[in-house]
Amino acid sequence: MSAKFDFSGKNIFVVGGTSGINLGIACGFARWGANVAVASRKQEKVDNAVSKLKGLGANAFGVAFDVRHAEDVESGFAKVADFFNGTIDVLISGAAGNFPSRVNDMSVNAIRSVLEIDLLGTFHVMKASHAYLKKPGASVVNISAPQAFLPMSHQAHVCSAKAGVDMITRTLSMEWGSDGIRINSIVPGPIAGTEGMDRLAPTPALQEAVTRSVPLGRQGSVDDIANAAAMLSSEQSSYISGVILPVDGGWSQSGATDVMTKLSNMLDNMKAK
Ligand code: COA
Ligand code: NAP
Repeated sequence: MSAKFDFSGKNIFVVGGTSGINLGIACGFARWGANVAVASRKQEKVDNAVSKLKGLGANAFGVAFDVRHAEDVESGFAKVADFFNGTIDVLISGAAGNFPSRVNDMSVNAIRSVLEIDLLGTFHVMKASHAYLKKPGASVVNISAPQAFLPMSHQAHVCSAKAGVDMITRTLSMEWGSDGIRINSIVPGPIAGTEGMDRLAPTPALQEAVTRSVPLGRQGSVDDIANAAAMLSSEQSSYISGVILPVDGGWSQSGATDVMTKLSNMLDNMKAK
């Protein structure tokens, strides 16, 4: 990735930033000169991510917490704020869980786990962050999903959770505007080589079906999402707030619902065998 943005000396915290898309975002900001902190549940993943970020030359820090537990999120933010000398310039919130399951096969605990990670977790992260976000000037980016506005079979838990995440984004753009904090959602399309895609399309045939359904003819890369997060967080975007931005090669305009129906049928057939 060539250096197209300059975040030298800025403090960026990526919650859920230890793998996949969110780690890609953290690495992007590390390459663009930022001080970078990451958090997720597993200490080993946190340690590996911090090593990788340091390898890119960043001043990097990590903390382990589960976004489902408000007090742990608060103490995690206090540690990150200490490392950053008090101020967060850019916050990315992207911790999430997903598995394909029809509602009829979902226990109460199954839907609760996804709602608690994606939706309640976002609420906890937003609340814990506010004291430390730069006022004015901070940029917050929530990582949403196409399921927020496209109903998809096997995804009722994610659809309802991510729709809620986007409404938190839109509501906070009003509540935090007077602090000079901007907040937007990025809606990644299918991103190659990620846990989320592997779970939703676990065979080469399913991956191929997804790729064919994207108008631009390819799955996205983690760099595509990192670039969008940097674009939204740059000074050139200083009047953009409350936006839900698909970064998906046009997928949400055509193909997404069709391919998810196809995926759900294929997943059903796989289960039946
Ligand atoms: N189908 C139906 N139910 C499932 C399931 C599946 N494929 N996978 C998990 N569940 C259910 C479990 O059976 C459990 O319900 P139960 O107690 O009634 O049996 C419930 O979901 C919670 O599962 P558990 O494994 O105890 O939760 P966890 O808190 O350890 O993990 C998950 C949360 C389930 C979301 C797990 O997949 C995870 O940690 N995901 C993070 C990574 C990820 O999903 N990445 C993609 C992001 S898009
Ligand atoms: P991923 O690699 O599994 O990333 C999820 C991250 O969240 C990991 O760092 C994970 O680390 C952390 N996490 C999970 N549960 C957590 C919890 N309870 N508390 C704290 N951290 C937790 O998945 P991904 O596919 O890259 O997805 C990243 C984001 O993009 C998600 O918000 C997802 O909904 C969104 N998205 C992905 C795609 C795609 O194509 N992959 C498409 C649209 C949207 P730990 O396991 O250590 O907790």
